[in-house]
Amino acid sequence: MNILVIGSGGREHALCWAISASPLAEKLYCAPGNGGIAEIAECVPLKGTDADAIIAFCKSHDIGFVVVGPEDPLVSGLVDRLDAEGIKSFGPRAAAAQLEGSKGFTKDLCAEFNIPTAAYGRFADAAAAKAYLKTQSAPIVVKADGLAAGKGVIIAMSMAEAEAAIDDILGGRFGAAGAEVVIEEFMEGEEASFFALCDGTHALPLATAQDHKRVHDGDQGPNTGGMGAYSPAPVMTPAVCERVMREIIEPTVAALATRGTPFTGVLFAGLMITKDGPKLIEYNARFGDPETQVLMMRLSSDILPALIATHEGTLDRISLAWSHEAALTVVMATQGYPGDYPKGTEIKGVTAARAVPHVQVFHAGTIKEGEKLLSNGGRVLNITAKGGSVAEAQARAYEAVSKIDWPKGFCRSDIGYRAVAREQQET
Ligand code: AMP
Ligand code: GLY
Repeated sequence: MNILVIGSGGREHALCWAISASPLAEKLYCAPGNGGIAEIAECVPLKGTDADAIIAFCKSHDIGFVVVGPEDPLVSGLVDRLDAEGIKSFGPRAAAAQLEGSKGFTKDLCAEFNIPTAAYGRFADAAAAKAYLKTQSAPIVVKADGLAAGKGVIIAMSMAEAEAAIDDILGGRFGAAGAEVVIEEFMEGEEASFFALCDGTHALPLATAQDHKRVHDGDQGPNTGGMGAYSPAPVMTPAVCERVMREIIEPTVAALATRGTPFTGVLFAGLMITKDGPKLIEYNARFGDPETQVLMMRLSSDILPALIATHEGTLDRISLAWSHEAALTVVMATQGYPGDYPKGTEIKGVTAARAVPHVQVFHAGTIKEGEKLLSNGGRVLNITAKGGSVAEAQARAYEAVSKIDWPKGFCRSDIGYRAVAREQQET
């Protein structure tokens, strides 16, 4: 069948790479894609949020299955529109994508169904938010309710900082995404990313991963979309994974089914592994970026039947095999990211990086201009490697990074440090 993947990041490159290996996939398209995806799929200049254009393209190109990567099209109802046209797709409808689209929605659901998460309050009014704040203590977390491209979360170290964040969010800094503010208890622990395919009724856990959200080494500096990831995450022991499924994922799937808004797609739980066990930080209604890059490196099964079974409600018939090897990805970003950065700077050395054994280079913000490869975003390349240990995958990834000749780029030099330290302790 012909497949259309929606999105333009490293996540979509990794998904296209995995899908293109499926015997079920005939022609692969990606909208809008990027400079790397163009090597394995035909890129088409359509926006994921332009449902009319996507539907017209699916009809004219005999698309049998659409895989939606990013959150914006999901939250704005692309899957609802595709369903109405009888076009099969992977991803939740808008009502279930509210798990990502509104932090308040998720917090209320957790409260109603006893899903472990941080204590919270949600407010549309600054005075009420500040009155609640007075009953809490710092550090405290202040969040814009809606989609804010990962920038709507402030970890306030003082009450003054928390008050300023409330004024900022409710004052319109994030537009409609800041119509409400969520104030949360600060949770301590180690973070992990957990993914489960859900077909409305069944949930199938995928491999675990850990992301590095801060821009600088040692987890310093502002939050980003993610500067690197590895899989598996040692903190996610089988016992912790089992608790996450039982206490968090399964109650969520059941709750949404009961409400008549079943979740179909991938449920991405951002977790804090606290001394009291795993707690939900937030849900995303899509695959993680850059976590997907390491998951696809480790997946030994064909992904496409699993994505289709997610749509058809037959996930109970699917089992996925994962490599016992570790995978690690280093994000190369344009200097300035996550603030302002230039576009159009030339990148060389990708072929040499790709020639390092056990390495894949997934593109995020790149564009081809003739023979030249140019940067076209904040996060630009994901240098991804497999190895017998996280340390080995890390060494291979950084060897490949050293082949990239891009004066305007930078990356963290410590991706995987927690897992590598654990491995060293064990030997
Ligand atoms: P989010 O966009 O909700 O995932 O938040 C971004 C980052 O802020 C998370 O990855 C955590 O590092 C941090 N964070 C969010 N909520 C909390 C919380 N309640 N306690 C501690 N850290 C948090
Ligand atoms: N890496 C975190 C995310 O995809 O939101």
